[in-house]
Amino acid sequence: MSERWTPESWRAKPVLQVPDYPDAKALADVEAQLATFPPLVFAGEARNLKKALARVAAGEAFLLQGGDCAESFAEHGANNIRDFFRVLLQMAVVLTYAGALPVVKVGRIAGQFAKPRSSPMETIDGVELPSYRGDIVNDIAFTAQSRTPDPQRQLMAYRQSAATLNLLRAFATGGFANLGSVHQWMLGFLKDSQQSRRYKELADRISDALNFMRACGLDLESHPELRATDIYTSHEALLLGYEQAFTRVDSTTGDWYATSGHMIWIGDRTRQLDHGHVEYFRGIKNPVGLKCGPSLKADELLRLIDVLNPDNEPGRLTLITRFGSDKVADHLPQLIRAVQREGRVVVWSCDPMHGNTISSNSGYKTRPFDRILSEVKSFFTIHAAEGTHAGGVHLEMTGQDVTECIGGARAITYENLSDRYHTVCDPRLNAEQSIDMAFLIAELLKQERGGKVKPMPVAAGL
Ligand code: TRP
Ligand code: MN
Repeated sequence: MSERWTPESWRAKPVLQVPDYPDAKALADVEAQLATFPPLVFAGEARNLKKALARVAAGEAFLLQGGDCAESFAEHGANNIRDFFRVLLQMAVVLTYAGALPVVKVGRIAGQFAKPRSSPMETIDGVELPSYRGDIVNDIAFTAQSRTPDPQRQLMAYRQSAATLNLLRAFATGGFANLGSVHQWMLGFLKDSQQSRRYKELADRISDALNFMRACGLDLESHPELRATDIYTSHEALLLGYEQAFTRVDSTTGDWYATSGHMIWIGDRTRQLDHGHVEYFRGIKNPVGLKCGPSLKADELLRLIDVLNPDNEPGRLTLITRFGSDKVADHLPQLIRAVQREGRVVVWSCDPMHGNTISSNSGYKTRPFDRILSEVKSFFTIHAAEGTHAGGVHLEMTGQDVTECIGGARAITYENLSDRYHTVCDPRLNAEQSIDMAFLIAELLKQERGGKVKPMPVAAGL
C-alpha cells in the first residue's frame, strides 16, 4: 500500500461490482468529459465537514446522515428534495434540542446513485438480464435494452446531483432553514399525528426561547447561525471511474479531493484491503465512511484504519456499523475495544437499516421498525458500556408518505406494503417514522448525556 497513489492507481487492483459496459470507448469518452466539468463541492467544505466530524469523534456533536437508498432519475422533483430536507431539519431540531449537542447534517443525496448487487444477473421467468445497478448505470425496467449499462447515464447523474445540491444550498442558507420557521417544517400529511403534536410542543419551546432572547435585547437577525444551517452531501463511491473524473487537486492546499460529494463511503461489499476501492479512498482527503458488517474482523478493521487514516486525523474516518438487531451485540463490542486499544480516533455511526432487511411473503423487501430501533438502542447501550460516544446514525429515509418499512406509530403492516411502495432499492423510513425515530434517538442521547444508560440485554432481536 505504500506505492504511489494517483487518482487512477485503483485501476491496477481488483475491483468488485463493476458494470459490464458494452462499449469501452463510449465509457472512456464520458469519463473524459466528466473530468472537464465543474466540481460539485469545494475542498474547503469537505474540510469543514471533517472538522465537524472531529467534534463528533470527541463526543461534542452528533451525526445525522440520511436519505434515499438510491436516488432515481424519475423522482427528481423539487417537492421531493424539499420534503426530504424538511424532515431532516425536523429531526435535527429534535436531536439538537434533546441532546443539547450540535447535529452534523449529512444527506445521502446529490450523488447516491450506484448500487452494489449480490448477483450480477437477475432471472425472471427464465429470462436472465444484468441486475439493476442504480440509475447512474442502467434502468430498472426488465428489458435487455434498459438493463444494458449506458455511460451516458453518468452525465445525467452529474447534472441531477448539481441541481439537487443547488436547491439544498438554497434551502440551507436562503431562509427555509431559519430556526424561526421551526413550525413551518411540519408536513401536511403529518397533521394530528402523535409525532406532529410532540413536534409542535418542541417547536413551541424553541419559539419561546427565541422570543425570550429577543426580549433580552439579542438581535436575532444579526446571527446567521440561527438563520442558516450546513447541509453536506454523501454517497457510496462505488463507481470509481466516475469518482476519478471528479478527483481534483485543491489549489489552496495541493491535496487531492473527491469533489462528487463532501463525504463518500466504502460499502461493506467492496472494503477489501488490496482492492481498488480502498486504494482510491486512501489518496483523497475528504472525510470518508467505512461500512462495517458482520464479516469484518477486528484485526482487519485495524489494518483498514491504518490505510484509510494513517495519521489518526480526527473526523477523517466514520465507521458505519450495520450488523442487524440480533447480531450487533456479538460484533460491535470487539470492534470498539480494538479501536480503543490502538488509540484510533473514529466516529461511530449506526446504520440500523441494512442488517434488518427481510422479505415479506408478497415479495416486498421490508424492515420492521422495531428491529431498526432495537439496533439503535443496542448501539447506544454498547457504547455506554464501552465508554465511547454513540456518534451518529445513518438512515435510509424519505420525506414522502411511503409504506416500505413495517411498524412504527401508524403500524404499517405487511398488507399495507403495496399501497405506496416507491423505493427503487431498499425500504426507507417514511416521514412519520423518521421523526418518530428522531424522538427515540433523542431519548437515548439524553440518557447518554446524563450518563444514565443502563446496560440491558441487547441481543433481544425484536
Ligand atoms: N445553525 C445551527 C445548526 O445548523 C442552528 C440551526 C439553524 C438549525 N437552522 C436549523 C438546527 C435547522 C437544526 C435545524 O445547527
Ligand atoms: Mn440500501
